[in-house]
Amino acid sequence: MKILRTKDAVKSFCQNLVNDKLSIGFVPTMGALHQGHLELVKYAKENTEAVIVSIFVNPTQFNNPDDFDKYPKTLDNDLELLNNFGVDAVFVPDNQEIYPLTPTLKLDFGTLERVLEGAFRPGHFNGVGIVVAKLLNIVKPHKAFFGQKDLQQVAVIKTLVIDFSFDVEVVVVPTVRDHDGLALSSRNLRLEPKDREKALTLYRSLSFAKAELLKGGSWLDIRAKVEADFSRWPDVKLEYFELVHSGQMLLMDGLHPEMPQSICVAAFVGEVRLIDNISVNH
Ligand code: PAF
Repeated sequence: MKILRTKDAVKSFCQNLVNDKLSIGFVPTMGALHQGHLELVKYAKENTEAVIVSIFVNPTQFNNPDDFDKYPKTLDNDLELLNNFGVDAVFVPDNQEIYPLTPTLKLDFGTLERVLEGAFRPGHFNGVGIVVAKLLNIVKPHKAFFGQKDLQQVAVIKTLVIDFSFDVEVVVVPTVRDHDGLALSSRNLRLEPKDREKALTLYRSLSFAKAELLKGGSWLDIRAKVEADFSRWPDVKLEYFELVHSGQMLLMDGLHPEMPQSICVAAFVGEVRLIDNISVNH
């Protein structure tokens, strides 16, 4: 497995792959890899002939400097995992390599980012959009792989790809969960052992709400019950619990079987902010 640290090194590595007529799969990450990332790599390996992973904790997508400072960093372990998984190359740039200049461009994804993460983390999707655009320009993959756990990010990236005419297929990979349902996330590494039970409230509430909705329950009643469940824990703070159109991210107030709908949640468990979602009808 090649470890590439510069844009030029990635470009020449990828050019060689193209010369050899190999399709390139790309998995962008911020490191602290877990089984969810490895699932993205697995999909990439199944769907393309050469796989490149990037590891870059992108400062511009953190609206909270403390969250950025505390983001887990496990580079040696990450590289070992990727090597064992048969990845062809890993791009590990430093900040200067990605941001030689502070970007002046500002991306606004309109209604896609007025709710959920976009509303609670102002500027987050500008940072995601900028870095993903840069990485796609450097790697020029045929397919890029993103996790469904970041549902709104997927919608934003699909829009970015269309609006900038990137010649890449966006492949969405289902969320990987622990045995108890907790969605895998790099941030889980920061959960205190005592908080794990509380963190399970996210998936439990999503499953409950989906089952109730499909039984014909009213969304407002369901959400009120979920809010009550969250409020049992003094150090758990629910940020949002919303029913949305899965692609357009429009808030909905009830079941519409003809549309793809998802329930999305974000909550602080102690100091750790977690998100999750479940699809309702597709
Ligand atoms: O999902 C992530 O890990 C990040 O948002 C991404 C896509 C790697 C951009 O920094």
